[in-house]
Amino acid sequence: MTGRPVPLIVVGNEKGGSGKTTVAIHLVAGLAGAGLRVGAIDLDHRQRSFSHFFTNRAAWAERQGRAFALPKLFAIEPSAREVRTLAEEDDARRFAQAVAELSAECDAIVVDCPGADTALGRAAHGNASTIVTPLNDSFVDFDLLAGVDPETFEAKAPAIYAEFVWESRKRHMIEKRRTIDWLVVRNRMSSMETRNQRRVSEALTKLAQRIGFRLAPGLSERVIYRELFPKGLTVLDLIEGKSRGITMAQVAARAEVRGLVAALRLPQLSKLAAAG
Ligand SMILES: Nc1ncnc2c1ncn2[C@@H]1O[C@H](COP(=O)(O)OP(=O)(O)OP(=O)(O)O)[C@@H](O)[C@H]1O
Ligand SMILES: [Mg+2]
Repeated sequence: MTGRPVPLIVVGNEKGGSGKTTVAIHLVAGLAGAGLRVGAIDLDHRQRSFSHFFTNRAAWAERQGRAFALPKLFAIEPSAREVRTLAEEDDARRFAQAVAELSAECDAIVVDCPGADTALGRAAHGNASTIVTPLNDSFVDFDLLAGVDPETFEAKAPAIYAEFVWESRKRHMIEKRRTIDWLVVRNRMSSMETRNQRRVSEALTKLAQRIGFRLAPGLSERVIYRELFPKGLTVLDLIEGKSRGITMAQVAARAEVRGLVAALRLPQLSKLAAAG
């Protein structure tokens, strides 16, 4: 294949419940809203929330007699092989196959990872062009990137997930001669800045420089990011085509989703902006 590979955006963090699936869903919606053909890969074979969102979307579209855009989706099961090394090879091969199939017809691919270290998750991180890591404003979440000094809140040595990304980047550089862009996005931000929030924010800013990630504006704590799940809709669907009855909260949520997508800095998006 010639030319630039299709962006592979891997949403990962070993911290459970940090907002990976929510962010992945909104990235798909935002990228599709920006006019890109989006592919999706669900690697969380136990929860399958990413897949369920799109199943719900298809069912709701049928019920409403409307056509909602749907990404081409792969839900990959972990290998059933018993020998660990063979299972890992099998997982890596099937992941690459899904990426190759989606690359043939998509402009961008979004991958939702489980909140645990799995062979499929490793394959995804090692092949990512961008890793997106949602993080709650909490030192409990921060602890997977680095521990902090209890008095000064200065970050200490990189912790488990930061090490994992470091290894993925190293492998990617050796195999593909390309860097992986790492974007940490804050999730469930509250509108009132607390002392804890400020400390987490300061520690993140310093750590970003030290271990090489970009900090992007993320999503605030909003009911709209979760209440539309049973219908498979996002705030972008609610606003689309409407000129009246749009609330301030919806406008603010749409701006956050667009900000998140813009933070990816995909060349595909700037081309579209230039053309439109
Ligand atoms: N910005 C937000 N505003 C409101 N609720 C949110 C937000 N982000 C996530 N949530 C809610 O927090 C919970 C965890 O989010 P989500 O399932 O996206 O996390 P996850 O990282 O994918 O979890 P897991 O590690 O279990 O896969 C869900 O109930 C989700 O609806
Ligand atoms: Mg999830």
